[in-house]
Amino acid sequence: MYAAVVTRFGGPEVLQLQELPDPTPGPGQVAIDVSHAAVGLIDAYIRQGRFENQPGMPTPPFVPGLEVAGTVRALGEGVSGLRVGEPVVTLTGAGGGQDGYASIAVVDAALAVSLDGLGVDPAAAVAALPNAASAWASLTQLAHIKEGDRLLVHGALGGLASAFPGVAKSLGAGRVVGTARRSSLEGARASALPYDEVVAGEELIEAVGETRFEIVVDPVGGQVRTDSLQVMAPFGRMLLVGNAAGDWEHSVRTNDLWLRNLALYGFSGGVYFPTHPEQVRPAAQGAIAAITQGLVDIRTESIPAAEAAEAHRRVEKGGIGGRIVLTF
Ligand SMILES: NC(=O)c1ccc[n+]([C@@H]2O[C@H](COP(=O)([O-])OP(=O)(O)OC[C@H]3O[C@@H](n4cnc5c(N)ncnc54)[C@H](OP(=O)(O)O)[C@@H]3O)[C@@H](O)[C@H]2O)c1
Repeated sequence: MYAAVVTRFGGPEVLQLQELPDPTPGPGQVAIDVSHAAVGLIDAYIRQGRFENQPGMPTPPFVPGLEVAGTVRALGEGVSGLRVGEPVVTLTGAGGGQDGYASIAVVDAALAVSLDGLGVDPAAAVAALPNAASAWASLTQLAHIKEGDRLLVHGALGGLASAFPGVAKSLGAGRVVGTARRSSLEGARASALPYDEVVAGEELIEAVGETRFEIVVDPVGGQVRTDSLQVMAPFGRMLLVGNAAGDWEHSVRTNDLWLRNLALYGFSGGVYFPTHPEQVRPAAQGAIAAITQGLVDIRTESIPAAEAAEAHRRVEKGGIGGRIVLTF
Protein backbone atom coordinates (compact mmCIF):
# COMPACT_ATOMS: atom_id res chain seq x y z
CA MET A 1 0.00 0.00 0.00
CA TYR A 2 1.04 3.62 -0.07
CA ALA A 3 0.52 6.20 2.63
CA ALA A 4 1.32 9.79 3.58
CA VAL A 5 3.69 9.33 6.51
CA VAL A 6 4.63 11.83 9.24
CA THR A 7 8.38 11.19 9.14
CA ARG A 8 9.13 13.38 12.20
CA PHE A 9 7.25 16.02 14.22
CA GLY A 10 7.35 19.34 12.40
CA GLY A 11 5.84 21.43 9.60
CA PRO A 12 3.68 20.12 6.74
CA GLU A 13 6.84 19.16 4.79
CA VAL A 14 7.42 16.19 7.12
CA LEU A 15 4.50 14.43 5.37
CA GLN A 16 5.92 12.12 2.70
CA LEU A 17 4.29 9.57 0.44
CA GLN A 18 5.82 6.11 1.07
CA GLU A 19 5.26 2.47 0.12
CA LEU A 20 4.49 0.34 3.18
CA PRO A 21 3.55 -3.34 3.70
CA ASP A 22 -0.17 -4.09 3.30
CA PRO A 23 -1.79 -4.34 6.76
CA THR A 24 -4.10 -7.24 7.65
CA PRO A 25 -7.02 -7.03 10.07
CA GLY A 26 -6.74 -8.64 13.50
CA PRO A 27 -9.68 -10.09 15.46
CA GLY A 28 -12.63 -7.67 15.48
CA GLN A 29 -11.08 -5.47 12.78
CA VAL A 30 -11.69 -4.81 9.08
CA ALA A 31 -9.27 -3.76 6.35
CA ILE A 32 -10.61 -1.04 4.04
CA ASP A 33 -9.52 -0.13 0.53
CA VAL A 34 -9.51 3.60 1.13
CA SER A 35 -10.85 5.94 -1.54
CA HIS A 36 -11.00 9.10 0.61
CA ALA A 37 -9.43 10.22 3.89
CA ALA A 38 -10.60 13.38 5.66
CA VAL A 39 -8.11 16.04 6.76
CA GLY A 40 -8.78 17.92 10.01
CA LEU A 41 -6.98 20.41 12.21
CA ILE A 42 -6.41 17.65 14.75
CA ASP A 43 -4.19 15.88 12.19
CA ALA A 44 -2.05 19.02 11.96
CA TYR A 45 -1.78 19.31 15.76
CA ILE A 46 -0.66 15.68 16.02
CA ARG A 47 1.84 16.15 13.16
CA GLN A 48 3.27 19.25 14.90
CA GLY A 49 3.97 17.14 18.00
CA ARG A 50 1.56 19.21 20.11
CA PHE A 51 0.37 16.07 21.92
CA GLU A 52 3.82 14.46 22.09
CA ASN A 53 4.15 12.16 25.11
CA GLN A 54 0.38 12.05 25.72
CA PRO A 55 -0.87 8.49 26.22
CA GLY A 56 -2.25 6.91 23.05
CA MET A 57 -0.66 9.47 20.72
CA PRO A 58 1.67 8.18 17.99
CA THR A 59 5.36 8.94 17.61
CA PRO A 60 7.02 9.28 14.16
CA PRO A 61 7.13 7.64 11.80
CA PHE A 62 3.34 7.21 11.68
CA VAL A 63 0.44 7.51 9.27
CA PRO A 64 -1.96 10.27 10.40
CA GLY A 65 -5.67 10.53 9.62
CA LEU A 66 -8.71 9.57 11.66
CA GLU A 67 -11.57 9.12 9.20
CA VAL A 68 -11.71 7.19 5.93
CA ALA A 69 -14.25 6.07 3.35
CA GLY A 70 -13.82 3.13 1.01
CA THR A 71 -14.85 -0.49 0.62
CA VAL A 72 -14.26 -3.43 2.92
CA ARG A 73 -11.22 -5.38 1.71
CA ALA A 74 -11.01 -8.12 4.35
CA LEU A 75 -12.70 -9.11 7.59
CA GLY A 76 -10.80 -10.07 10.74
CA GLU A 77 -11.75 -13.00 12.92
CA GLY A 78 -15.16 -12.72 14.56
CA VAL A 79 -16.43 -9.81 12.46
CA SER A 80 -20.04 -10.07 11.36
CA GLY A 81 -22.51 -7.60 9.88
CA LEU A 82 -20.12 -6.35 7.17
CA ARG A 83 -19.12 -8.00 3.88
CA VAL A 84 -16.12 -7.70 1.58
CA GLY A 85 -16.85 -4.98 -1.00
CA GLU A 86 -19.31 -3.12 1.26
CA PRO A 87 -18.96 0.69 1.13
CA VAL A 88 -18.14 2.07 4.58
CA VAL A 89 -17.02 5.18 6.41
CA THR A 90 -15.16 5.09 9.73
CA LEU A 91 -16.10 7.27 12.68
CA THR A 92 -12.64 7.71 14.09
CA GLY A 93 -9.12 6.35 13.92
CA ALA A 94 -7.86 2.94 13.07
CA GLY A 95 -8.01 0.81 16.19
CA GLY A 96 -8.97 4.01 18.01
CA GLY A 97 -5.77 5.69 16.79
CA GLN A 98 -4.51 6.85 13.41
CA ASP A 99 -3.55 5.33 10.04
CA GLY A 100 -6.14 7.01 7.78
CA TYR A 101 -3.94 8.63 5.09
CA ALA A 102 -3.27 5.26 3.45
CA SER A 103 -4.58 3.28 0.51
CA ILE A 104 -5.43 0.47 2.97
CA ALA A 105 -6.58 1.18 6.53
CA VAL A 106 -7.35 -1.29 9.31
CA VAL A 107 -10.00 -0.21 11.83
CA ASP A 108 -12.07 -1.72 14.60
CA ALA A 109 -15.18 -3.10 12.90
CA ALA A 110 -17.32 -1.41 15.59
CA LEU A 111 -16.23 1.99 14.20
CA ALA A 112 -17.09 1.22 10.55
CA VAL A 113 -20.49 2.37 9.34
CA SER A 114 -22.05 0.89 6.20
CA LEU A 115 -23.00 3.27 3.39
CA ASP A 116 -24.85 0.51 1.53
CA GLY A 117 -27.91 1.80 -0.28
CA LEU A 118 -27.64 5.34 1.10
CA GLY A 119 -26.65 6.97 -2.17
CA VAL A 120 -24.11 9.15 -0.33
CA ASP A 121 -20.90 9.72 -2.25
CA PRO A 122 -17.78 8.59 -0.27
CA ALA A 123 -16.12 12.05 -0.31
CA ALA A 124 -19.26 13.66 1.12
CA ALA A 125 -19.66 10.79 3.59
CA VAL A 126 -16.17 11.05 5.05
CA ALA A 127 -16.42 14.86 5.17
CA ALA A 128 -19.74 14.83 7.01
CA LEU A 129 -20.64 11.57 8.71
CA PRO A 130 -17.98 11.20 11.44
CA ASN A 131 -18.43 14.80 12.61
CA ALA A 132 -22.22 14.54 12.33
CA ALA A 133 -22.08 11.43 14.53
CA SER A 134 -20.01 13.41 17.05
CA ALA A 135 -22.57 16.22 16.84
CA TRP A 136 -25.40 13.76 17.48
CA ALA A 137 -23.61 12.10 20.42
CA SER A 138 -22.53 15.34 22.12
CA LEU A 139 -25.89 17.07 21.59
CA THR A 140 -27.94 14.13 22.88
CA GLN A 141 -25.67 12.57 25.54
CA LEU A 142 -24.03 15.69 27.02
CA ALA A 143 -25.97 18.82 26.04
CA HIS A 144 -29.31 16.97 26.35
CA ILE A 145 -30.80 18.94 23.49
CA LYS A 146 -34.51 19.71 23.79
CA GLU A 147 -37.14 20.77 21.26
CA GLY A 148 -36.78 24.48 20.51
CA ASP A 149 -33.31 24.90 22.09
CA ARG A 150 -31.38 27.80 20.54
CA LEU A 151 -27.81 27.00 19.44
CA LEU A 152 -24.75 29.14 18.92
CA VAL A 153 -22.06 27.41 16.79
CA HIS A 154 -18.58 28.97 16.52
CA GLY A 155 -16.44 28.78 13.38
CA ALA A 156 -19.60 28.13 11.35
CA LEU A 157 -17.97 26.54 8.29
CA GLY A 158 -15.28 24.54 10.12
CA GLY A 159 -15.25 20.80 9.43
CA LEU A 160 -16.59 19.87 12.86
CA ALA A 161 -18.83 22.91 13.34
CA SER A 162 -20.54 22.38 9.96
CA ALA A 163 -22.12 19.18 11.19
CA PHE A 164 -23.92 20.80 14.13
CA PRO A 165 -26.66 23.01 12.63
CA GLY A 166 -28.16 20.20 10.54
CA VAL A 167 -27.96 17.55 13.23
CA ALA A 168 -29.39 20.01 15.78
CA LYS A 169 -32.26 20.92 13.45
CA SER A 170 -33.00 17.22 12.86
CA LEU A 171 -33.20 16.87 16.66
CA GLY A 172 -35.72 19.71 16.96
CA ALA A 173 -33.49 22.72 17.66
CA GLY A 174 -34.97 26.18 17.29
CA ARG A 175 -32.86 29.06 16.04
CA VAL A 176 -29.25 28.19 15.14
CA VAL A 177 -26.79 31.09 14.92
CA GLY A 178 -23.26 30.59 13.60
CA THR A 179 -20.22 32.78 14.13
CA ALA A 180 -17.35 33.32 11.70
CA ARG A 181 -14.33 35.57 11.70
CA ARG A 182 -14.95 38.80 9.82
CA SER A 183 -12.69 37.55 7.02
CA SER A 184 -14.90 34.45 6.53
CA LEU A 185 -18.29 36.04 7.20
CA GLU A 186 -19.41 36.48 3.60
CA GLY A 187 -18.73 32.84 2.69
CA ALA A 188 -20.41 31.60 5.85
CA ARG A 189 -23.54 33.63 5.12
CA ALA A 190 -23.69 32.18 1.59
CA SER A 191 -23.34 28.59 2.83
CA ALA A 192 -26.01 25.93 2.24
CA LEU A 193 -25.81 24.85 5.89
CA PRO A 194 -29.03 25.48 7.86
CA TYR A 195 -27.88 28.46 9.93
CA ASP A 196 -30.66 30.96 10.60
CA GLU A 197 -28.02 33.69 10.87
CA VAL A 198 -24.24 34.03 10.87
CA VAL A 199 -22.62 36.84 12.85
CA ALA A 200 -19.03 38.02 13.29
CA GLY A 201 -17.40 36.25 16.25
CA GLU A 202 -15.44 39.40 17.07
CA GLU A 203 -18.75 41.22 17.72
CA LEU A 204 -20.65 38.34 19.30
CA ILE A 205 -22.21 40.11 22.27
CA GLU A 206 -23.52 43.12 20.31
CA ALA A 207 -24.51 41.00 17.30
CA VAL A 208 -26.81 38.61 19.16
CA GLY A 209 -28.55 41.40 21.11
CA GLU A 210 -31.06 40.00 23.60
CA THR A 211 -30.95 36.41 22.25
CA ARG A 212 -29.77 33.85 24.79
CA PHE A 213 -28.66 30.33 23.84
CA GLU A 214 -29.43 27.06 25.56
CA ILE A 215 -26.50 25.36 23.79
CA VAL A 216 -23.14 26.73 22.62
CA VAL A 217 -20.89 24.59 20.41
CA ASP A 218 -17.30 25.78 20.58
CA PRO A 219 -14.52 24.25 18.47
CA VAL A 220 -12.73 27.66 18.37
CA GLY A 221 -11.90 28.67 21.95
CA GLY A 222 -10.13 31.82 23.14
CA GLN A 223 -12.03 35.12 23.37
CA VAL A 224 -15.19 33.85 21.68
CA ARG A 225 -15.45 31.15 24.38
CA THR A 226 -15.19 33.76 27.13
CA ASP A 227 -17.74 36.00 25.39
CA SER A 228 -20.15 33.10 24.94
CA LEU A 229 -20.67 32.82 28.69
CA GLN A 230 -22.46 36.18 28.53
CA VAL A 231 -25.00 35.04 25.94
CA MET A 232 -25.95 31.69 27.46
CA ALA A 233 -29.45 31.16 28.82
CA PRO A 234 -29.84 30.00 32.44
CA PHE A 235 -29.09 26.25 32.55
CA GLY A 236 -27.21 26.70 29.27
CA ARG A 237 -24.75 24.00 28.18
CA MET A 238 -21.53 24.67 26.29
CA LEU A 239 -19.82 21.90 24.34
CA LEU A 240 -16.05 22.46 24.34
CA VAL A 241 -14.96 20.51 21.26
CA GLY A 242 -11.77 22.11 20.00
CA ASN A 243 -9.28 24.94 20.01
CA ALA A 244 -9.03 26.20 16.43
CA ALA A 245 -7.99 29.66 17.66
CA GLY A 246 -4.85 28.09 19.14
CA ASP A 247 -5.28 29.65 22.60
CA TRP A 248 -3.91 26.68 24.55
CA GLU A 249 -3.80 28.61 27.85
CA HIS A 250 -7.46 29.71 27.82
CA SER A 251 -9.27 29.50 31.14
CA VAL A 252 -12.79 30.12 32.45
CA ARG A 253 -13.79 31.71 35.77
CA THR A 254 -15.67 28.91 37.49
CA ASN A 255 -17.51 31.36 39.75
CA ASP A 256 -19.26 32.66 36.62
CA LEU A 257 -20.72 29.18 36.11
CA TRP A 258 -22.38 28.42 39.44
CA LEU A 259 -23.76 31.91 39.76
CA ARG A 260 -25.60 31.51 36.45
CA ASN A 261 -26.40 27.75 36.41
CA LEU A 262 -24.19 27.06 33.41
CA ALA A 263 -22.51 23.79 32.42
CA LEU A 264 -19.41 23.27 30.28
CA TYR A 265 -18.82 19.83 28.78
CA GLY A 266 -15.70 18.66 26.99
CA PHE A 267 -16.28 16.17 24.18
CA SER A 268 -13.88 14.23 21.94
CA GLY A 269 -15.35 11.81 19.41
CA GLY A 270 -11.94 10.13 19.17
CA VAL A 271 -12.16 9.17 22.82
CA TYR A 272 -15.94 8.75 23.05
CA PHE A 273 -16.69 6.27 20.26
CA PRO A 274 -13.94 3.70 20.95
CA THR A 275 -14.99 3.68 24.63
CA HIS A 276 -18.74 3.71 23.89
CA PRO A 277 -19.09 1.30 20.95
CA GLU A 278 -22.80 0.86 21.74
CA GLN A 279 -23.29 4.53 20.80
CA VAL A 280 -21.78 4.15 17.32
CA ARG A 281 -24.97 2.82 15.66
CA PRO A 282 -27.40 5.38 17.15
CA ALA A 283 -24.97 8.22 16.45
CA ALA A 284 -24.43 7.03 12.88
CA GLN A 285 -28.19 6.71 12.39
CA GLY A 286 -28.67 10.24 13.70
CA ALA A 287 -25.93 11.51 11.40
CA ILE A 288 -27.32 9.68 8.37
CA ALA A 289 -30.82 11.04 9.07
CA ALA A 290 -29.51 14.62 8.97
CA ILE A 291 -27.27 13.99 5.93
CA THR A 292 -29.97 12.33 3.85
CA GLN A 293 -32.30 15.25 4.63
CA GLY A 294 -29.67 17.48 3.00
CA LEU A 295 -28.92 19.27 6.29
CA VAL A 296 -25.15 18.61 6.34
CA ASP A 297 -24.18 19.86 2.90
CA ILE A 298 -20.49 20.57 3.59
CA ARG A 299 -18.39 22.08 0.78
CA THR A 300 -15.85 19.34 0.09
CA GLU A 301 -12.68 19.52 -1.97
CA SER A 302 -10.89 16.31 -3.02
CA ILE A 303 -7.14 16.41 -3.68
CA PRO A 304 -4.67 13.56 -4.33
CA ALA A 305 -2.94 11.97 -1.32
CA ALA A 306 0.42 13.03 -2.77
CA GLU A 307 -0.61 16.60 -1.84
CA ALA A 308 -1.15 15.82 1.85
CA ALA A 309 1.49 18.39 2.89
CA GLU A 310 -0.30 21.09 0.90
CA ALA A 311 -3.61 20.03 2.49
CA HIS A 312 -2.06 20.54 5.94
CA ARG A 313 -0.65 23.95 4.94
CA ARG A 314 -4.12 25.06 3.89
CA VAL A 315 -5.87 23.68 6.97
CA GLU A 316 -3.39 25.50 9.21
CA LYS A 317 -3.81 28.74 7.26
CA GLY A 318 -7.64 28.61 7.58
CA GLY A 319 -10.37 30.07 5.43
CA ILE A 320 -11.18 26.77 3.68
CA GLY A 321 -14.93 27.09 4.20
CA GLY A 322 -15.50 23.34 4.25
CA ARG A 323 -13.40 20.17 4.24
CA ILE A 324 -10.44 18.83 2.31
CA VAL A 325 -10.35 15.09 1.64
CA LEU A 326 -7.40 13.14 0.23
CA THR A 327 -8.04 10.69 -2.58
CA PHE A 328 -6.30 7.30 -2.95
N1 LIG B 1 -14.09 17.08 19.75
C1 LIG B 1 -14.01 16.35 18.65
O1 LIG B 1 -14.45 15.22 18.56
C2 LIG B 1 -13.34 17.00 17.47
C3 LIG B 1 -13.52 16.51 16.17
C4 LIG B 1 -12.96 17.22 15.11
C5 LIG B 1 -12.22 18.37 15.36
N2 LIG B 1 -12.03 18.78 16.65
C6 LIG B 1 -11.32 20.02 16.98
O2 LIG B 1 -12.13 21.11 16.54
C7 LIG B 1 -11.30 22.19 16.10
C8 LIG B 1 -11.65 22.51 14.66
O3 LIG B 1 -11.25 21.41 13.84
P1 LIG B 1 -11.74 21.31 12.33
O4 LIG B 1 -11.11 20.09 11.78
O5 LIG B 1 -13.21 21.50 12.27
O6 LIG B 1 -10.98 22.57 11.73
P2 LIG B 1 -11.34 23.48 10.46
O7 LIG B 1 -12.17 22.74 9.51
O8 LIG B 1 -10.04 24.04 10.03
O9 LIG B 1 -12.24 24.63 11.07
C9 LIG B 1 -11.72 25.57 11.98
C10 LIG B 1 -12.76 26.66 12.16
O10 LIG B 1 -12.30 27.53 13.18
C11 LIG B 1 -12.19 28.85 12.65
N3 LIG B 1 -11.03 29.54 13.22
C12 LIG B 1 -9.73 29.21 13.07
N4 LIG B 1 -8.96 30.07 13.74
C13 LIG B 1 -9.77 30.97 14.30
C14 LIG B 1 -9.57 32.11 15.12
N5 LIG B 1 -8.35 32.49 15.48
N6 LIG B 1 -10.66 32.79 15.52
C15 LIG B 1 -11.89 32.39 15.18
N7 LIG B 1 -12.15 31.33 14.38
C16 LIG B 1 -11.10 30.61 13.97
C17 LIG B 1 -12.03 28.68 11.16
O11 LIG B 1 -12.44 29.86 10.53
P3 LIG B 1 -11.89 30.33 9.08
O12 LIG B 1 -12.79 29.65 8.11
O13 LIG B 1 -12.02 31.79 9.14
O14 LIG B 1 -10.47 29.84 9.00
C18 LIG B 1 -12.95 27.49 10.91
O15 LIG B 1 -14.28 27.91 10.85
C19 LIG B 1 -9.86 21.71 16.27
O16 LIG B 1 -9.37 22.18 17.50
C20 LIG B 1 -9.97 20.19 16.30
O17 LIG B 1 -8.96 19.59 17.05
C21 LIG B 1 -12.58 18.12 17.70
